Amino acid sequence: MVDEIRWIARIAPVNDASLGLFDSGVGGLTVVRAVQDLLPGEDVIYLGDTARLPYGSKSPETIRQFAAEDVDFLLGKGVKAIVVACNTATAHALPEFWKNCPVPIMGVIEPGVEAALANPDADRIGIIATRGTIGSHAYQHELATRKRGLMIHGIATPLLVPLIEENWIYEDVTKEILRKYLEPLMAKGIDTLMLACTHYPLLIPLLTEILPPDVRLVDSATTCAEHLKKMLEEKDLLSGKTGEGKLEIYLTDLSEQFEELAKRFLRRPTGKVRRAVLTAG
Ligand code: DGL
Repeated sequence: MVDEIRWIARIAPVNDASLGLFDSGVGGLTVVRAVQDLLPGEDVIYLGDTARLPYGSKSPETIRQFAAEDVDFLLGKGVKAIVVACNTATAHALPEFWKNCPVPIMGVIEPGVEAALANPDADRIGIIATRGTIGSHAYQHELATRKRGLMIHGIATPLLVPLIEENWIYEDVTKEILRKYLEPLMAKGIDTLMLACTHYPLLIPLLTEILPPDVRLVDSATTCAEHLKKMLEEKDLLSGKTGEGKLEIYLTDLSEQFEELAKRFLRRPTGKVRRAVLTAG
């Protein structure tokens, strides 16, 4: 199976093949949006594993298995490069993919950390993310490796993804939950808050109301697209096509709710959303 996949990847007209992005759900479409803005000529295939969402509360083994199946699906589509547009999957599975993925692959953590440290005054960093991401210490490790003496405090905020999926992004109850989650970070006097989950950019309006104006919010989607561009340039994989690239969206569970949500994350028409059937590894 793996050989067959490698073969498909090799015979594809590489530069003009699509980019593959995946997430546990539709949150990764925030990254797709940034990629389309920066690399408008590239075709993109997006996979959202909506049937098995959330990844954030699963064990590292399960997350790695799901992520490997997501990668196999995209390789089967002949993609030329892959972005793991899910923080939890990046945290647990990316190092393994670096060893064995036949096409270039990157995640969202390095770009997020780079975005946070782009401000030289970032010293006291708060991170909000799923249990899986916080428990992996991947962000904490990457931050500490890049800058000495940082105060880093990560909080698991598992209630936020369901609230966002329900579109309760302006509700008082969400504001109260956010306040409660952020209390310990405020007590630590953070100057930067990393939104280390694909869904959280949708909470920026509420977060801006709650947090003091001098706390900087960091969302990695734009930096992630910039990293991807650099990776494609280095590997000489940029598309030579002119005109607007195509977007194909696959979800493992199709429901009206997800299609609706997908439009909100992408902020543009999604086109026809297809159902993906993954092969267990
Ligand atoms: N996509 C996940 C992440 O960025 C959030 C949703 C989930 O838990 O699956 O961590």
